[in-house]
Amino acid sequence: MSQASDAHEKQIEYWNGEGGTLWRARADKTDVMLAPVLAATLESAAPRANETVVDIGCGCGASTLALAGKVASDGRVLGLDVSAPMLALARERAAGTPNASFALADAAIHPFAAQAADLVFSRFGVMFFGDPTAAFANLRRALKPTGRLAFCCWRAPDENDWMRVPLRAVYAHVPRLPKPGPEDPGPFSFASPDRVTRILTGAGFRPPCMTPLDLMLDISGGGGLEEAVADASRVGPASVALSGQPDDVREAAIAEIRKALAPHAGPDGVRLKGAMWIVETTPGAAA
Ligand SMILES: C[S@@+](CC[C@H](N)C(=O)[O-])C[C@H]1O[C@@H](n2cnc3c(N)ncnc32)[C@H](O)[C@@H]1O
Repeated sequence: MSQASDAHEKQIEYWNGEGGTLWRARADKTDVMLAPVLAATLESAAPRANETVVDIGCGCGASTLALAGKVASDGRVLGLDVSAPMLALARERAAGTPNASFALADAAIHPFAAQAADLVFSRFGVMFFGDPTAAFANLRRALKPTGRLAFCCWRAPDENDWMRVPLRAVYAHVPRLPKPGPEDPGPFSFASPDRVTRILTGAGFRPPCMTPLDLMLDISGGGGLEEAVADASRVGPASVALSGQPDDVREAAIAEIRKALAPHAGPDGVRLKGAMWIVETTPGAAA
């Protein structure tokens, strides 16, 4: 197995195991935290009535449902995800939304109806492919020649306080995580505009327009400081750094997270900066 396909398989395993279970349990809070990101990405993607849309890495379905509302009853949205637990919740949430359907499938190789989609959309669901150029070439084949691709992704970890602040707190007590390689899949793997442009043009898209989006995100998802502390120790890079540590080290690190997040807590949540790209492009001439 090549390094890229090994990395891809590990992602599928993660999203069907611990990752999927955690995201599913936290889905309502994640949707509160990411609601302004979804709104901004939808505004850029501009889904219209009657359009056919594919939502890549749709997870628990919040974006699929929002898209279904935008394309109205004559439009169609297909939410696609590799995670069985997350997709099961998406299906539950979409009962009563007849123009939304779902497929448990790998977007990198799924045999999409050729040139049928007006819009391929994603909220943070396209950074996990082992071979992203091949995966985006597959997504491009799903798009009509007049279609468009629009997604959001994170910029560099250093710019994302929502992740950096709890992780730095934890590092007072546990060893640093190894840095991912420049081509490894992961949440921050689309931070570099050069890399994203190389991937998308290599996949047959035009050079993308990448617009920075900076938002203060409520990492507690409406739950307050203790929720934010518990979540930071359960999900994301700080939780990875904590995994396998003895109880006393974990307790000290969690106390450190609380200390670091407390100054950001207020009446409208625990707000830290999120730094993203909104990426938009269209199929290239050869598509
Ligand atoms: C960071 S989560 C985002 C979920 C959702 N879009 C949201 O914003 O709540 C990434 C999602 O991408 C999905 N994913 C990862 N690799 C995938 C692949 N090859 N094909 C389809 N979905 C994939 C995961 O299962 C997960 O649901």
